[in-house]
Amino acid sequence: MISLSPRLEMVLSLVPERVGCCDVGTDHGYIAAALAHQGRKVIALDVNRGPLEQARRNLERMGLEGRVETRLSSGLEAVEPGEVDCAVIAGMGGELIAEILEKGIKDIRFFVLQPQSKFYELRDYLSKNGFCILKEVLCREEQRYYVALLAEARGGNLPLSEAEKHIGPLLLRDRPPLFCEYLASRRREAEKILEKIGEAETPRREECAALAEMFRKYEQGGLSHGC
Ligand SMILES: C[S@@+](CC[C@H](N)C(=O)[O-])C[C@H]1O[C@@H](n2cnc3c(N)ncnc32)[C@H](O)[C@@H]1O
Repeated sequence: MISLSPRLEMVLSLVPERVGCCDVGTDHGYIAAALAHQGRKVIALDVNRGPLEQARRNLERMGLEGRVETRLSSGLEAVEPGEVDCAVIAGMGGELIAEILEKGIKDIRFFVLQPQSKFYELRDYLSKNGFCILKEVLCREEQRYYVALLAEARGGNLPLSEAEKHIGPLLLRDRPPLFCEYLASRRREAEKILEKIGEAETPRREECAALAEMFRKYEQGGLSHGC
């Protein structure tokens, strides 16, 4: 058994059964290690040599070096079409994740994505570029909330509302146990920025005020029930 943090456990829980995977931005290599431990084909990728070396050392320590191929790669560049059916891209900003997808998805069908920021931008990209969001989950690790999603490349459009892009269409629909705490933390973030901006009339002020209001509305149940 490989012991993972709640965030990494959440990421792993979204990977469809039995598919071969690549782990983009592997860094420490723990996601790749856990996937290999499940008996899957795994390719660990990183754009930087240092993190890739770190991943190799950790895999060796766990006796998994022969079960994970490591490649220096910007995004999915070093993956050939047909090599794997799922890509995990975790622990990066949503805009960077969208940039990686935009450069070419190499016939990969499933994407487990865990953005650290820019959630709106990532969902906006997915909605306009033929991805369907199949699952969305939340976790808390050391007072911080994390979101992850499983997307499938299907073609076609997935129209999302502004609130769905900010918060997540399936989180809004299913309101999982951490939902209200998560929204409260997003609201507090927006309120902190508002405090810093003070009375200055800037577009950023209006944007943050609208966001804080939106998070409050859905915390209180939106148009349906509250928490
Ligand atoms: C914060 S770490 C995340 C590590 C791990 N995926 C996780 O979720 O804990 C980000 C890693 O992504 C790598 N990275 C950044 N941009 C990348 C890109 N365009 N392609 C591949 N790897 C990238 C960095 O070198 C770093 O090792």
